[in-house]
Amino acid sequence: MKMTTTSPASGADNAVTRAIRGRILHFLRDPQFHDDAYQYWEDGLMIVKAGRIAAVGNYADLSRDIPQGAEVVDHRGKLIVPGFIDTHIHYPQTDIIASPSPGLLHWLDTYTFPEERRFSDPAYARAVADFFTDELLRNGTTTAMVWSTVHAASADALFAASQQRHMRMITGKVLMDRNCPDFLRDTAESGARESADLISKWHNVDRLAYAITPRFAPTSTEAQLEACGELAKAHSDVFIQTHVAENRDEVKWVAELFPDARSYLDVYDRYKLLRPGAFYGHAIYLDEDDRRRLADSGAAVAHCPTSNLFLGSGFYDFHQSDANRLNVTLATDVGGGTSFSMFRTMNAAHKVARMGGYHLTALRMFYLATRAAAEALGWQDRIGSFEVGCEADFVVLDPDATPLISRRSSRSETLEEQLFAFAMLGDDRVIENVYIMGEATSPVAA
Ligand code: GUN
Ligand code: ZN
Repeated sequence: MKMTTTSPASGADNAVTRAIRGRILHFLRDPQFHDDAYQYWEDGLMIVKAGRIAAVGNYADLSRDIPQGAEVVDHRGKLIVPGFIDTHIHYPQTDIIASPSPGLLHWLDTYTFPEERRFSDPAYARAVADFFTDELLRNGTTTAMVWSTVHAASADALFAASQQRHMRMITGKVLMDRNCPDFLRDTAESGARESADLISKWHNVDRLAYAITPRFAPTSTEAQLEACGELAKAHSDVFIQTHVAENRDEVKWVAELFPDARSYLDVYDRYKLLRPGAFYGHAIYLDEDDRRRLADSGAAVAHCPTSNLFLGSGFYDFHQSDANRLNVTLATDVGGGTSFSMFRTMNAAHKVARMGGYHLTALRMFYLATRAAAEALGWQDRIGSFEVGCEADFVVLDPDATPLISRRSSRSETLEEQLFAFAMLGDDRVIENVYIMGEATSPVAA
């Protein structure tokens, strides 16, 4: 798919009304726990006005409501779903994706920290941010919770690139005041001040939002975690993102650094960092108390299966996750993760779940990559579904994208089988078009 980035002048305010025809699918609730979890129209129509969903349903029922002068876009034969939401991805790691390493801590020291150093240069940061946001869109990801580096200018660059593309995006400057190279170290005071400045500058500006971003417990002093908690209290609607219980060596290290904490998760709890809108990357090595606490707090898990396999971190436990009704979402974790594609991520998630004797359905995975993430963000009235009033971010999927996907799709007898073919065989080639606020980000086939 060829990307043409939308210009700032083509924003939603002056968007034309569009009527989009195709196979349309979206989720209202979790298919794991509800029978009436989704709506699917084999010959569907979606009417988009001023960038928002005005109506959705059967073409036969809705076609007479197409407003005069609306642009009708025919995607018959294709599947239209809400834009994907990636809840954990590091944009400064774009260029070190697929770096060979024996594991997390070596990988951080050898590849990640030296690359993140380069983001002190705003021009370098902006060039990567431009590539990164285009690559997200090329993969059908229209919203992401993104990690910047310790440099405030790196967050500026990602916000500016997202704003230019009218994307609903979240990022934050990394906070890291110990156990890291000097060139990436802030202090409790400077980190909090720069985060507060970035919140004033970007939070709730256009479609952008801020996330307080302590890297992980080992790289923050107690003073810095305390400052994070205070910042979170002062800004109750900002997001929080960090890593927890990803790797056995890391868990051991946290136990040494925080001997009074009951568990790794408890370190964050002590500093009031568990709440709705807080996203915990990985969450593999949790115990029962941790899971109950996570569920009660309303915080979410960003499950990163390609990263967990690549770095040999471990297997997320879907049985325990469901038993505690955790708010689990799907994430790539590029560059620990090995793909920007949410299909590749679903493929890995399915296999990780299988290793634990759990069958993760394709319906559930599409739900996790759309509506579940929107709900965990508290943005279900904005993105993640086609409910009337939602912002019209969506992707058009081609069941004939490759010869093999085409043959498998033609044999699919159920929606689950079709979605499963996308999840197991798909990648960026399946993404035919991506719409942001009802505007195509690539040429639309007539
Ligand atoms: N833990 C702390 N930093 C990182 C990171 O950049 N990637 C991953 N996967 N885990 C981390
Ligand atoms: Zn990460």
